[in-house]
Amino acid sequence: MQKIEGSAALMVGGAALTHFTRPTFLMCSPEWFEVHYVINPWMAGNLNRSSRDTSFTQWKGLYSALREVADVKLMHPRQGSPDMTFVAHGAVVNFGVAALSSFAHAQRQPEEQHLRTWLEDAGFLIWETPRETAFEGEGDALFDPSGRMVWLAHGVRTCQYSHRHVADAWHANMTSLHLVDPRFYHLDTCFAPLGGGHLLYYPGAFDAASLRRIEDAYPPRMRIVVDEAEAAHFGCNVLNVGRHIFMHECGGTVARRLRSAGYCVTELALGEFLKGGGSAKSLALRLSDVTVTHQSDLELAG
Ligand code: ARG
Repeated sequence: MQKIEGSAALMVGGAALTHFTRPTFLMCSPEWFEVHYVINPWMAGNLNRSSRDTSFTQWKGLYSALREVADVKLMHPRQGSPDMTFVAHGAVVNFGVAALSSFAHAQRQPEEQHLRTWLEDAGFLIWETPRETAFEGEGDALFDPSGRMVWLAHGVRTCQYSHRHVADAWHANMTSLHLVDPRFYHLDTCFAPLGGGHLLYYPGAFDAASLRRIEDAYPPRMRIVVDEAEAAHFGCNVLNVGRHIFMHECGGTVARRLRSAGYCVTELALGEFLKGGGSAKSLALRLSDVTVTHQSDLELAG
């Protein structure tokens, strides 16, 4: 195990697990980013239409902004894996354990070994997920800010049968949600539990039973509803660190409403990545515990 800067070893049952004391993320540059195949509806119509130069500039904009409030580790992308810059889908990490993805599509499966090696070298305990039950990391698994409960989605990419197995990596409580609109194929395209206790979400992405679960967990004053046009510009795919939020300039009123709820919002141009079906949240994998990531003097409106 290599000691990586900013991390400390946390002893759990005799094993030393990596633990960050500051908000920390992993990013992977878009060196090989292209829209070369279609595995989500946003990629159709954008085949070979992305620009490497523009994507690099936009990615660097997010990297620099995120570094103002968090530590950012970098992983080399793998040639032949054009979606690897969407590193958040390779795993979900908490309390020193990384549940590694088992991608639904063959095009993304080669990313798994590359990320496994990085996470192992960094000292995380790897929780494997079986190939038969697809699971796509933070794309479909988002912890609430307490770290005690994980929201898991199925319906497009992740298989429902993976949910219990994934939550067991932390003995966490879980709530399963059913995604019903293929445009919102990952939970992180339509649902963001925020550090200040709010939920940013697009209700149209869920079936009725899932909406009831969401609304039972969040009282109306803590729900920030994104409309269809905003959601179609990835208004829910936000990266949140304490009271800071980084998001694509998606139009509409989302940024304004987040500011009124007390968040400090940075809007960035990330349009190249929308062509691949992702935005700010998908470009960074959280490595610090969710509780550490959101630690700060949150004084938000409720
Ligand atoms: N092309 C990638 C895929 O389809 C994009 C991932 C972005 N995902 C997201 N949740 N926004 O897997």
